[in-house]
Parts: sequence; C-alpha cells; structure tokens
Amino acid sequence: MLMLNEQTREELWRRLIEVVENYLTKIDTARVAPELDVEKIRGVLAGRDFAEPLGAVESLDFVADAMWRFQVHTGHPRYFGLFCPASTTMGIAADTLVAAFNPQLAAWSHSPFAAEVERHVIRSFGQKFGYDPALTDGVFTSGGSEANHTALLAAMTNEFPEFNEHGMRALTAQPVFYVSSQGHHSFLKAARASGLGTAAVREIPVDGELRMNAGALTERIERDRAEGFKPLMIVATAGTTSSGVIDPIDELAEVAAREGIWFHVDAAWGGGAAFAPELRATLGGIEKADSITFDAHKWLSAPMGAGLFLTRHPEILKRTFGMATSYMPRDAAGLEVVDPFTHSIQWSRRFIGLKVFMSLLVAGWDGYAEAIRHQTAMGDRLRRRLQDSGWEVVNRTPLPVVCFVDRALWEGATAEYLEAVCKSVVASGEAWLSIARVGDDNKPVLRAGVTSYRTNVADVDALVESLNRARIREGGRSARNSSGAA
Ligand SMILES: Cc1ncc(COP(=O)(O)O)c(C=O)c1O
Repeated sequence: MLMLNEQTREELWRRLIEVVENYLTKIDTARVAPELDVEKIRGVLAGRDFAEPLGAVESLDFVADAMWRFQVHTGHPRYFGLFCPASTTMGIAADTLVAAFNPQLAAWSHSPFAAEVERHVIRSFGQKFGYDPALTDGVFTSGGSEANHTALLAAMTNEFPEFNEHGMRALTAQPVFYVSSQGHHSFLKAARASGLGTAAVREIPVDGELRMNAGALTERIERDRAEGFKPLMIVATAGTTSSGVIDPIDELAEVAAREGIWFHVDAAWGGGAAFAPELRATLGGIEKADSITFDAHKWLSAPMGAGLFLTRHPEILKRTFGMATSYMPRDAAGLEVVDPFTHSIQWSRRFIGLKVFMSLLVAGWDGYAEAIRHQTAMGDRLRRRLQDSGWEVVNRTPLPVVCFVDRALWEGATAEYLEAVCKSVVASGEAWLSIARVGDDNKPVLRAGVTSYRTNVADVDALVESLNRARIREGGRSARNSSGAA
C-alpha cells in the first residue's frame, strides 16, 4: 500500500497536476480568506478514522477541496499579508523532486550534488550581500527563526568558546544582546531556547522613522558594561515585520565594530532588496555584518520553508555545531567538503536549497530583479492610492509595506476602529490585510504588504476600494454607537 501500483500512480500524478494547475490559474477567483469555523473543519475530518483505506485520487481530491475551503490563500494576488508569497512554479517542481528523491542533507557523501548546490547558492547570495564568495559560509534553515537562533549560537560560540561544552554556568558575566523594539520575536524565542533567557534581550527604542536609535544603543551598551553584563550581539533589522523599515545598518555596524560585538543583520524579508540594483543601496553596510538572516521563502517566493543563515566567518558554524558521531558515514573523509550536519541545528535535513536554485536557474537574477521592482512599484501605488482616499501613511520605507490609519474620521486611529475595518475587509473575502502595532508606544495601524509577485494594479485598487467601503460601514457604525451612547 505504500508503493501504489503503476496504473494508480499514473492516475494520481495526472490528477495532482490538474489540481495544482487549477489552483494556480483559479486562485484569484477564490475568497482570499475563509470563514474561521473550527467545527466545520473538525466535522470534515471526523469521519476519517483510517479504518477503511481510501483511494489515492479520492484522498487527493478530499484534501485539495479542504485546502481550497479552509486556508488563507497566501498566494492570492489580493493577499496583502505577512511576507507569505505566491510560490514560484520552479519551487513547486523542485519540492516535488525533493520529496521523490528524498536526499538526506546530513552527510555530504549521501547527497553530494544537493550539498554542492546549497554551497553554490550560499556563495552566490553571499556575493549579493557584499561578502567575498570564497569566504562565505552558511546553511539553509527551516526559516528566519532558525537562522536567527543560529546567529545567536554563533555569537555565543565566538564570544565564549567555553559555552558549547560547559553552557551558561561557565560564564562569568550574563550575555545580553540588542535588537530594536520593532525586531522579530524569534530573538526572544532564541534567547529562551539557548538558555540566555528573554531578559537578555535588550529592546532598543526607535527614532521617529521606526529605526533603531544608535545613540540609545550606545548608551545601553555602556550601562550594561557598567552593571557587569557582557554585550554579545547587535541585531539590525532590514525590513521590520510590522512596518518594513530598515535600521541604519551602517551606523549600527560602526557601533558593533567600535564595541567589538558580533553584528547580525536580520534581512529575512528586506534582504530581497539586494536583488534589485536600484534598491541595493538601502542595505548599505550589510556587507560588514558578521552574519545575515535571509529567507528565500519571503521575497524570493520559494515555497516554505527556505531560510538561510550566512556568515563571512568560514569557521564559526563548524565551531558551533560540529561534532563527531560513530554512525556518521565517513565516505567523504579526506575530501575538501563540508558535512551539512556540522553546520546546522538539524541532523536529517530536507534539500531546502533546490527550490531556490531551480527558481534562480529559470528566472535568473534579472527575473528576480523584475519581480522585486514590480512589487516595490505596487507598494508605491498603494501608498499613493491610500493617500488620495484620505488614509494617512505612517511608515517610511522604500520597501512595499504600508502602515496607515484613517484621518478622515476622528476615531480613525483607534485600535477598535482599525480592527473593525480590518475584520470587515477580511470577512468580505475581497482582500487580506492585518493590524500591526508600531513604534515604542505600540500604536495600532492597518498594515498591507505587497508580498505576491502576482499582485497587479487592479489588485491594489481593489484593496483600496474594499477599505473605502469598510470605512463607510464601520465609520457609520461607530457614529451610530456614539450618538446612541449620547
Ligand atoms: C524580520 C523577520 N525576521 C525573522 C522572521 C522569521 O522568519 P520565519 O517565519 O521564516 O521563521 C520574520 C518573519 O516574518 C521576519 O519578518
């Protein structure tokens, strides 16, 4: 039953291709988001008790139907969400190949082609970020969170060689690290998982443009040193999750160099700017980073998960993760190669790099530059169209994430009103956007990111029209409520 017969396989593959092709060509006819009805979903699953085997094609249709009905379609051109793009066609093909060939990226000798593809892509990306490709090292990760965790462990290994063997108890001073108040929560998780604890994360205030305040950073480092803490790592975010803002990378690199602290750039999404020549300058200074997080499953539209950790220190990953095991195949001993497991938190690992490699083979750098340019232009259009309709854009970034409030109504910047507008648009099925909190005072905003390369002018306009309709519905409702209360 695990290897189905040839005739069933043929039917299954044919149907699979139909289902995938149908999804790709008809996705824009679907509601972007489903209604959230947990009972309905559990009802669909309730009869599936595995007692009676199901036909292969039948099972495929069952799942495809449920996925059509019960998920936010992040590949939809009117999904203005959280960096979850439409997958590249080549990425879908690559992930299928990976599932079939199932290469094991623990030992180099098990999957030499896969390991060398990943090395090749890592060096090419290092070069895009301004590293010397010959010195670039790195590893593919499940995503940005694992890459950020890897950065913290690398910084710990670099600063405290005794940490890997003796752990936190061997340290004479508590390490602390610095990230802006707008940084990603994965650093808090990494602090927990590595044993530092979340109190070790210093959230540095931001300036009026939501960028880390370098002066406040320097002061905090001085204070920490005076109080006996050990400053370990500075994180610059290139493209914050809530507002797409880029920290002053060059300035923060200088602080890190002056203070002798590991400098990490979390460019999980915004790193895509390195692939469009006219945006590359926005990442100025990233080449000075000791390490970089970049997610190919964000702006490069690889299917999830395809994260990357890059470093210009060729020895640090091996020092962080390298170990010997008796069951490790030794066939590659003596060759000038790297066993991927010595660079990673993971042991058995999927061939993550293939979807990036094959997407790049077909699109080329120019294809990606064009997609990134297009999305940036759609972000600019969204900003203009919102402002024309009386919405106020509150973030400044060259990247396509737009945060805004409603200046047309007195209550237009309150959390209740913005949430109501957001819910109303999402419930209409016409588009998907979210609420975010920005700044040190956590101001609520509506947030729309152009995250799909398939988003076009008509989709941007449809979002603005949907928002304008929601504003009339919700504005009217709150006016009625306040007159009722009076
Ligand atoms: C700036 C930033 N860093 C890290 C991450 C975490 O990436 P992942 O979701 O791939 O774990 C995200 C996710 O949105 C992000 O926006």
